[in-house]
Amino acid sequence: MSTDLGVTPAPTKAAAAATASVAAVSPLPGVPKPDPILVVDNIVRQFGGMTAVNVPHLEVQRGIITALIGPNGAGKTTFFNLITGFDKPSSAPRLIGGPKSDHAARSMFNGRSVNNMGAAKVAQRGMVRTFQLTKALSRLTVLENMLLGAKDQPGENLFAAVIKPLWAAREREITAQAEDLLQRFKLLEKKNDMAGSLSGGQKKLLEMARALMSEPTMIMLDEPMAGVNPALTQSLLGHIKSLRDEGMTVLFVEHDMHMVRHISDWVVVMAEGKVVAEGPSATVMDDQAVIDAYLGAHHDTDLGDDSLLTDEVAEELAKEVELENRTEGDA
Ligand SMILES: Nc1ncnc2c1ncn2[C@@H]1O[C@H](COP(=O)(O)OP(=O)(O)O)[C@@H](O)[C@H]1O
Ligand SMILES: [Mg+2]
Repeated sequence: MSTDLGVTPAPTKAAAAATASVAAVSPLPGVPKPDPILVVDNIVRQFGGMTAVNVPHLEVQRGIITALIGPNGAGKTTFFNLITGFDKPSSAPRLIGGPKSDHAARSMFNGRSVNNMGAAKVAQRGMVRTFQLTKALSRLTVLENMLLGAKDQPGENLFAAVIKPLWAAREREITAQAEDLLQRFKLLEKKNDMAGSLSGGQKKLLEMARALMSEPTMIMLDEPMAGVNPALTQSLLGHIKSLRDEGMTVLFVEHDMHMVRHISDWVVVMAEGKVVAEGPSATVMDDQAVIDAYLGAHHDTDLGDDSLLTDEVAEELAKEVELENRTEGDA
């Protein structure tokens, strides 16, 4: 038993292009990128007296897979929420009493300002983040979950609902789109099952499939591997790479350093709310500042060196897989 991610196949054309697109970029925090899809400035978030996030400048290169890593409490999730409009920076511009304009939070997505924009609008612009399926959505079927992810849902537009033929045509269209995606994620035969009955790994796949219903330009995944058994890891990795290969930009937060090493074109490291390092994954993960950032916060963090995989850990993983296979029958 091992968590070996398999023989690394030759990089696809898109993968090689992604690597090449940032090859000349210096590995420095906040460094400009040749073709950034997302540019953020002065992103600060305080909770009481505590500064959870303080990022003066960050750029995310278009069309590549960027990993955001860092110890627990580094501010990764908060940062995700801030850039996708689910949370508001403390440094957001205000009519009265806000920060000076050159210190105010600013975000540009795909060449347009998304300053102070809520999550729904940010999603409409093409930047979508995934969430763990909530309890309420567990009581919907897999297909219903997918339809909720669609753009321009007929049920939400009263006017369209009145014009029945338009409604029906659009519903057929999004149902077909949903079924295509479910097929791709090997969830089609579960389309009428309750989302709550899926295994942890299948929920992650559904989450990703649902996010794709809105045809995003950039997809943000918060710990896509959490709760996924190693048997499904490979398939999730493949899906994430193929999103990139189809031209999507991927930004993901992940604890699993093996995965980060294997699929990221670029890695951004946060510690104590700040970006402390960024660069190509091989460079960054052997960087002393990065190792210090991890070791400072918790000593047992595995930076993805397979030699750290002890027999004990391997045995635990094997048990986990066996258990999940028995109870869930994961595809
Ligand atoms: N809603 C909140 N209220 C108060 N503190 C919070 C809140 N959300 C996050 N924090 C704090 O902000 C810091 C960063 O948290 P988080 O963004 O979840 O880190 P990460 O995702 O890197 O583990 C932590 O110290 C956390 O306790
Ligand atoms: Mg988090």
